[in-house]
Amino acid sequence: MSMKASAVAPANIAFIKYWGKKDESLRLPENGSISINLNNLQTTTTVEFLPSLQKDSIIINGQQNLSEIERVIKHLDLIRKIAKLDYKAKVVSVNNFPSSVGLSSSSSGFASLTLAATAASGLKLSEKKLSIIARQGSGSACRSIPNGFVEWRKGNSSGTSYARSIYSQDYWDIVDVVTIVSVKKKIISSTQGQTLAKTSPFFKTRLLNIEDKIAKIKKLIAVKNFSDFGKLIEEEALELHAVMLTSSPPLIYWLPETLKIMRLVEDWRRQGLEVFFTINTGQDIHLIIENKNLDRLIKQLKKVKEVKIIINHPAKGARLTDNHLF
Ligand code: PMV
Repeated sequence: MSMKASAVAPANIAFIKYWGKKDESLRLPENGSISINLNNLQTTTTVEFLPSLQKDSIIINGQQNLSEIERVIKHLDLIRKIAKLDYKAKVVSVNNFPSSVGLSSSSSGFASLTLAATAASGLKLSEKKLSIIARQGSGSACRSIPNGFVEWRKGNSSGTSYARSIYSQDYWDIVDVVTIVSVKKKIISSTQGQTLAKTSPFFKTRLLNIEDKIAKIKKLIAVKNFSDFGKLIEEEALELHAVMLTSSPPLIYWLPETLKIMRLVEDWRRQGLEVFFTINTGQDIHLIIENKNLDRLIKQLKKVKEVKIIINHPAKGARLTDNHLF
């Protein structure tokens, strides 16, 4: 019997962000988060377990980067333990977008790895179990397992910290126009950055208010109030970066071009175009807009020479595919 499987998973963008861990190794978050999956930022991963292999062979985007490989092997070990399997694996993984620039390639990467590796090992797991396993590879990856609009409840143990779908991908026609201002790789990964959260004097205040914020955003999504939703997600992104900027050592992820887009978003809004931004650990910026206004935004973005864009609609979560990479 072949022990090979492939999976495709979307990256996701969080509207309420995950930042800071209660438990480093289990990746239990300090707070819950809310996101959508993105249909045009995808990772495909093929995994095959082979009795003949002496060691794991891992190729990510055509390369063998040591720190990435170590993290993947750790994740394979977790899955091998659950499946009671000791074969080594061949893993090939490709993104259809640039990685390590703040586009959450670790979310799509670990979600697709989780689904492909568990299926290849013969496990048939529930969405909840897959989300729990994906979380241990990269926190945000747990949100790339379920469909559409997703909530990750923080939980208080490994078995209670997972993501579930709150609405399907067709629920609300909002668009995330990813605006790539530079493909320069970030120096500090989010995994490293997360460990600094507690050093910011503002982190405690953030946690005091975050439950209310989550309740508020869920209400705004429920009634599809785009204006208040947009305002809230922009404030949330800036709050996250206020925590990062005031960490010790400080985390400065923005480039001058990032700030330029933020100012343009303000200008466009003043001119009556309702668009809002959100941003993760990187220089690239996500512009959130209702589909009916997308063409107007694209017209404006075409005037900004130095940017490339990727248009994303809300998407399904991770799924198996027969299109194997080897
Ligand atoms: O899953 P990680 O460790 O790559 O952290 C993701 C952190 C943010 O992207 C900044 C926020 C989020 O919720 O996706």
